[in-house]
Amino acid sequence: MTATPDPLATVTTLTTNQDLDPQRLREAFGIFPTGVVAVAAEVDGEPVGLAASSFTSVSLDPPLVSFSVANTSKTWPTLRRAAHLGVTILASHQGTICRQLAGPVEERFAGIGLHTTEDGAVLLDEGLARFDCSIHDEVVAGDHTLVLLRLHSVENADTSLPLVFHRSGFGRLEATA
Ligand SMILES: Cc1cc2nc3c(=O)[nH]c(=O)nc-3n(C[C@H](O)[C@H](O)[C@H](O)COP(=O)(O)O)c2cc1C
Repeated sequence: MTATPDPLATVTTLTTNQDLDPQRLREAFGIFPTGVVAVAAEVDGEPVGLAASSFTSVSLDPPLVSFSVANTSKTWPTLRRAAHLGVTILASHQGTICRQLAGPVEERFAGIGLHTTEDGAVLLDEGLARFDCSIHDEVVAGDHTLVLLRLHSVENADTSLPLVFHRSGFGRLEATA
């Protein structure tokens, strides 16, 4: 009789209480590929916003999505004042726009095609899907705040490929046959 190999025998033991330094964590988190969204609104007559790869779907009923924002963000205290926020899922060709949305505040929206809803949500042209949202809840979670957004409308007409963020760089999905 042949012995069945123990699958656990090949698993590397994880050290407990190791130093989870931020750089090591950032690299480990970056192994998980994500899309990227623009979260933006008009506040005091100006578009404000940022790029976020922490976006995820949360609930269908009620319709909720989330993203997490660093507690050091200079933009979030202003952005959260908006009645409605726009979330745009970026397309594969919008890597430069993504970097711009994470760069100097005064140039974030320079030359970017966008429109603003009556409620002040700012939505980017050429995104794959656009959500009109309002803040449902904010939960402080360590050095970030988890923001739950309630959806009011969705538009997803574009079927082209999304921008993919992976290991601190941009990639793209390969369409399979
Ligand atoms: C691809 C990408 C993804 C990002 N994702 C997030 C995120 O999920 N949460 C966050 O707080 N900042 C994220 N940032 C950084 C913000 O876009 C922005 O640079 C940061 O909030 C600093 O600007 P601020 O002080 O004006 O908020 C990301 C940046 C890039 C380039």
